[in-house]
Order: sequence, then C-alpha cells, then structure tokens
Amino acid sequence: MASIPIPVRANPHPNLRPLNILRDLPHVADLIELCFASTMDSDGQRYVQDMRRAGRDESFLHWATKMAESTSLPLTGYVWEENSKVVGNASLVPFRYNGQRLYLIANVATHPDFRRRGIARALTERAIQHGLDHKASIWLHVREDNPGAVQLYSDLGFRERARRTNWKGYCDRALPIPKSDISIGGRAGRDWPRQQEWLHQTYPDALAWYGKWNFSPLRPGQWNMIYLFFVDMGIRQWSALKGDQLEAALAVIPSGREPNALWLAAGPGSSREAVLSLLLHARRTLNGYPHLTLEYPKGDFDEAIRAAGFAPLRTLLWMEYEGATSQA
Ligand SMILES: CC(C)(COP(=O)(O)OP(=O)(O)OC[C@H]1O[C@@H](n2cnc3c(N)ncnc32)[C@H](O)[C@@H]1OP(=O)(O)O)[C@@H](O)C(=O)NCCC(=O)NCCS
Repeated sequence: MASIPIPVRANPHPNLRPLNILRDLPHVADLIELCFASTMDSDGQRYVQDMRRAGRDESFLHWATKMAESTSLPLTGYVWEENSKVVGNASLVPFRYNGQRLYLIANVATHPDFRRRGIARALTERAIQHGLDHKASIWLHVREDNPGAVQLYSDLGFRERARRTNWKGYCDRALPIPKSDISIGGRAGRDWPRQQEWLHQTYPDALAWYGKWNFSPLRPGQWNMIYLFFVDMGIRQWSALKGDQLEAALAVIPSGREPNALWLAAGPGSSREAVLSLLLHARRTLNGYPHLTLEYPKGDFDEAIRAAGFAPLRTLLWMEYEGATSQA
C-alpha cells in the first residue's frame, strides 16, 4: 500500500525558539538593558543584574529549569535569533490566583537594528499561544508613553483593563499645613466600611493576582488590635473629614511587601482638598521613610497628588488578552 505523505507544517519563524535559561539569560539581560535604557529605574537595573548573576550560577540554573513553570521569575519565554545572536525576547511570568493560572508577558524587546520586521509581533503571538495552551489568562502592562507597543498589543487582541500611575514623594516635616475646611485625624472604626469599599474600587480584584493586596490589617476591632500589637506592624492611618463626613482615608502598612507604600481610599465624590491634605499630612508625619510611593488609578486625583508634591514615575496600561480580532 502506498503511504500517504503527511504534510509537514513549516515553522513560520525558524529564528524563534523557546528561551533556554541554561544559556540565554545573560544575552537577554543585555538586550533588555539596551532596549529599556531610557526608562529603566534602579529596580530595573537590579533585575537585569539578578538575571546576569543567575546566568552565571550553574546550580541555580539547574534548579530553575525544573521550576520554570512555578516561580514568578522570568524563566519561561521566547527569543528571536539572528546569526546565533539573541535580538528579540518575550518573557512569560507565571502567576496563580484563586486557583486560576495567569501569565504576564514581559520584557518584550527587539534590538534596535532589527525593528519593524515583525519580530516583537511574532514573539508576542508565540507567548499568547503558550498562555492559551496552558489555559491561562494572559496579561501585560505597557507604559502609556509607548504608543508603538500599545498599538502592537491592541492589534494582537489585548484590551485595556486599567491605567495606573506610580507616584513618588519625599517626606518633609517642615511642610506648611494648608488652610482648608478638611480636618485630618486618626482613622475611626466607623470609617472602615467606606474606606474598605473605596479600597476595593481602587485596588480591584481584576489586578489582585499581581498586587496581592491585603487590607485586613486596617480592619478595626479589638481582635485585630491585639493581633497587630503582637506582630508589631506599626500601621498608621488617617481620615480626612469635612464636618463629620468622611471624604477620604490614607494608610501605610510598614511590614507589607512595599513598606513605604501609601494606600489611598477615596471615592468619586471625595474632594480634591481631602486627598491633598492627607498626602501632605503623610509627607509631614512619616519622617522615618526616605520617600513614599503611591500607586493610583490615573484620573480624578492626579492634580491633587501632584499638588501634594508627588511626582509621577510612570503610567501603565494593564491589558488582558481577549482574543484575536479578525484583521481587515
Ligand atoms: C516595541 C518593540 C518591542 C517593537 O519591536 P519590533 O520588533 O520593532 O515590532 P514589530 O516589527 O513586530 O511591530 C509590530 C507592530 O507594532 C507597532 N509598532 C512597533 N514599533 C512601533 C513604533 N516605533 N512606532 C509605531 N508603531 C510601532 C506597529 O503597529 C507594528 O506594525 P507595522 O510595522 O506593520 O506598522 C521595540 O520597539 C522595542 O524593543 N522597544 C523598546 C522596548 C519596549 O518598549 N518594549 C515594549 C515594552 S511593553
């Protein structure tokens, strides 16, 4: 019987292959450093150095090959090679939340000499396929001031879910107290339901897999107080009142993942002055911190946050893969 030839599907991108952490990490670190040079902060530099260090550590690499799917390190991904040189990269960072599997596509980068040839598109498409094969939700974040990348991701089927700005402000005990009809005081237990509702809106469930926010230490009540006394969290929180009406609340949870992060709770009806007064109060009072950070949805309170002396570091679009749209 004559055998029927099975058509072999040609690999559409022979230059694209999975990341090999045993040999690619230092090259990917170089590429990331080159491509993100203009926006890389000290955290980014540390990240690149960690990648290089990991690339030199044999025992780490052997351990990591087994762990690639279960750590949050960028150990999974795809690279693009030209003449045996890595010129493109897309990392996949795995997460698990409430039993759900998610991937964050990160470090999408193409060497400047090879741009606009479809390399980032092919790498991102492959990363999406990897997520779909693992039945995962697929996310990424991209700077608002990177329209080329936003265009690429939108074309591939990602949709914006949130737009959030990272702010940084320095402490200064000599800051003047502005004249206003807002009074700042310790957060009262009766303010908690409102504060909790606003926190929930501001730090939404949709991003909790990444933010891992935990506001339960802010809860009032005797048992929580006793617990906090033993774990010595040193939480500070304040309410901003107009008359006896709660306008906004602000907290710092020193022993969290981000010890100098502020957690601002405000609603659509909250006054700008309340947010301004709270943030000035924090800068005046929290002198033990070199600086304070705040991550907040871009929008209504930008002006108040800026007026309180905080500078924007970056605004990120959080995008989730919704599915490829049919191309015209
Ligand atoms: C953004 C980046 C990854 C794009 O890489 P690339 O390989 O050149 O991208 P592609 O050739 O696959 O482009 C695919 C599409 O993205 C969009 N795009 C990419 N770069 C663009 C640019 N500079 N300006 C406008 N659109 C751009 C276009 O729609 C493009 O399609 P087209 O060429 O048919 O118009 C690359 O410029 C880079 O490394 N930048 C620095 C790092 C970075 O910003 N990474 C993204 C982080 S989220």
